[in-house]
Amino acid sequence: MKTTEKLDLFGKISMGYLVIESKKIAAWKVFCEAGLGMHCDTDRDDFLAFALDEHRRRLIIKRGPAEDYRAVGYQLASKLELEEIRRRLAAHKIEVAEGSAKEAQERGVTAFWRFEGPKSLAIELFIDAEHRTDPLSMHTSAFVTGNGGMGHMAITSRRPEEMQRFWQEIFDARLSDYIDERIAGVDLDLAFFRLNSRHHSVAIASTRGIQMDPIRSKVQHVNFQVATLEDLSSAFRRLQDLGFEMAHEIGQHPNDKELSFYVFSPSGFEMELGWAPLEVDEATWDVTKYHGMSTWGHKPEKRGMRHFLLTNFTNLTQGTKSLLRSEFNPLVEEK
Ligand SMILES: [Fe+2]
Repeated sequence: MKTTEKLDLFGKISMGYLVIESKKIAAWKVFCEAGLGMHCDTDRDDFLAFALDEHRRRLIIKRGPAEDYRAVGYQLASKLELEEIRRRLAAHKIEVAEGSAKEAQERGVTAFWRFEGPKSLAIELFIDAEHRTDPLSMHTSAFVTGNGGMGHMAITSRRPEEMQRFWQEIFDARLSDYIDERIAGVDLDLAFFRLNSRHHSVAIASTRGIQMDPIRSKVQHVNFQVATLEDLSSAFRRLQDLGFEMAHEIGQHPNDKELSFYVFSPSGFEMELGWAPLEVDEATWDVTKYHGMSTWGHKPEKRGMRHFLLTNFTNLTQGTKSLLRSEFNPLVEEK
């Protein structure tokens, strides 16, 4: 009997773009262009698009009420990887639909395919991105993308094992490491997964014991990587001067060693800007467990217990509300 070998997708997938829905279009323009230092590609009353590199569009903001992420796009090396993922999704009876030409144009890609991912975040797959013809004009000297993609995202989950299984079974994600942390009496577990040489493309956070989801948005934060320390410190200063509040001032994580800060975006969720995370050497990497999210720094700008409990991983009201909802995971088809 002929057996077909399963194609290994590791290293052939990277985060390609993000679609966010917000009513605060004007504030997002200031936040991304003047604050984070991105290149503004398109600026309309109902639609913004920003570039970080040679791709025409990496971050898209559409006018709408959600104040949340609508979709995350993953770039695949070729049609082979696309077909492999489609086969795996079909085996789990997960429906995939091709995006319209208008939607593809909005995202700056030639075509894409979409399915409903964990927590009902749309996951979109594409191969070819439209490239820019005009030079970048931005405050940041460069963003680091390449094989590792445009950055990483962190997701909170009440079903962390199923969430992890999704990324491992569908995308061949590899475990990089774990961090645990105790915040305001709540034990948090984080697992970091890589899809390529970037230390992690997806981090999954969960509470131990009673599984709560303290985060309102589908994604807790997205990280973008800048090229130099000067890029990081300048963006920090610019964002503060523009009046954006730091969720966590500059600090360093123990696992990827990245120097980073977290700022509240106009939609209320956090975004992380980082510099110099390590890259994984597949030949020598060992999975480690760390205690504590940061080696140093990452302190909130506004201190005090009330503020602490209202924000970030310690949002108890949101956490309690999450107990009343189920969390969608396409592998187990439950809504
Ligand atoms: Fe992060």
